[in-house]
Amino acid sequence: MQGLGLALLLAAASWALLQAKDPLKAVIQNLKSILNSFIHNKKYMAALESKLAWLGSTLPPPFKEEIEGIASASENTLGDIVVFNIFYEIFTVCTSIVAEDKTGKLYHARNLDFGLFLGWDVKNSSWSVTKELKPLMVSLEFQRNNKTVFKSANLAGYVGMVSGLKPGAFSLTMNERFSLDGGYIGLFEWIMGQRDGWWMSFLTRSVLENGTSYEDAKDKLSNSKLLAPAYFILGGNKSGEGCIITRTRSAVLDIWPLNIEKGTWYLVETNYDRWKDPFVLDNRRDPAMKCLNQTMQENISLSTIYNVLSTKPVLNKLTVSTTLLEVSDGHVETYLRGCPDPCSPW
Ligand SMILES: *[C@@H]1O[C@H](CO)[C@@H](O)[C@H](O)[C@H]1NC(C)=O
Ligand SMILES: *[C@@H]1O[C@H](CO)[C@@H](O)[C@H](O)[C@H]1NC(C)=O
Ligand SMILES: *[C@@H]1O[C@H](CO)[C@@H](O)[C@H](O)[C@H]1NC(C)=O
Ligand SMILES: *[C@@H]1O[C@H](CO)[C@@H](O)[C@H](O)[C@H]1NC(C)=O
Ligand SMILES: *[C@@H]1O[C@H](CO)[C@@H](O)[C@H](O)[C@H]1NC(C)=O
Repeated sequence: MQGLGLALLLAAASWALLQAKDPLKAVIQNLKSILNSFIHNKKYMAALESKLAWLGSTLPPPFKEEIEGIASASENTLGDIVVFNIFYEIFTVCTSIVAEDKTGKLYHARNLDFGLFLGWDVKNSSWSVTKELKPLMVSLEFQRNNKTVFKSANLAGYVGMVSGLKPGAFSLTMNERFSLDGGYIGLFEWIMGQRDGWWMSFLTRSVLENGTSYEDAKDKLSNSKLLAPAYFILGGNKSGEGCIITRTRSAVLDIWPLNIEKGTWYLVETNYDRWKDPFVLDNRRDPAMKCLNQTMQENISLSTIYNVLSTKPVLNKLTVSTTLLEVSDGHVETYLRGCPDPCSPW
């Protein structure tokens, strides 16, 4: 596994993959049996798998090479690793927060909620895929010439990045944006051969690697063409540097910045446009805001943000992990989460 000349702490990465081999197989088998229950036809499934392997071969470097490396190291087929990478882009719902304390220090955090509709386990009252992903969470540090380039909390076997930071420069998370204008037309176009857009989590990884500053990251996240709509939550290392970028596939719809003078010392993004009400059955935004309002800027820190992300239904049965990012000293910590009953299924 190597990419873009980055030594991905090779020893650590292959160790992580070795540890993750069985859990990765388990989650892929589960995803495939779910897919199978929709398709119900062995011939179609086989055809789909070969198409997915082909899709993997169309990915740009270094993602194609990495997916091939992961497939061989984890003893899965290429198509299976592609399934895992695509499912993850499609079924992730999340809560991200960026906040500034009274001294101008920035904090960034996210809950990773994954597995909606993917196998409700009645007996255990849990989502089977959500549970199976927990052993796959890894903390990664990408280095070049023995120097840290960026850090990320990720799933072993997944080549994009959905949370990470560049020490002293910026922190970044991505949330899914469901939208009729776009959706998976981009994926369809990719299959048909039009391949000028970015896979969303490949863009975030490229920005983490190559972005030189908060402003540069903001520019790249706003102006690159995407396969699907997305929210990018970006934090910097200086007072006022924080924003939520709402994207369509081709354009930026809105950039919502921190504004300390006007009292906007935090931003919360779930999976809804800020100018619209969240879906009534999935309002994680107001509870998170209420909690942040009660915490007050005086008391904001990684540990109080952790508490906000532990409040139901911000924490729910889809929550795999909570990641806390502190850009000024390059600190990343991730906790695996559980949500004992009573707890919202999403
Ligand atoms: C439910 O949980 C128990 C204990 O955690 C486990 O042994 C069992 O396999 C789980 N059932 C399913 C269907 O995942
Ligand atoms: C990186 O660090 C290791 C041990 O810390 C050392 O053996 C190696 O020579 C270093 N490589 C470079 C390119 O500096
Ligand atoms: C990041 O911010 C901290 C203060 O919060 C400061 O000490 C540090 O020098 C900054 N780093 C860079 C690279 O500007
Ligand atoms: C939180 O505080 C802001 C600013 O005072 C206010 O606009 C918002 O309605 C509050 N939200 C909740 C859910 O309490
Ligand atoms: C917030 O900080 C104030 C003092 O700055 C303290 O009195 C209060 O107990 C803190 N509240 C919480 C919820 O930690």
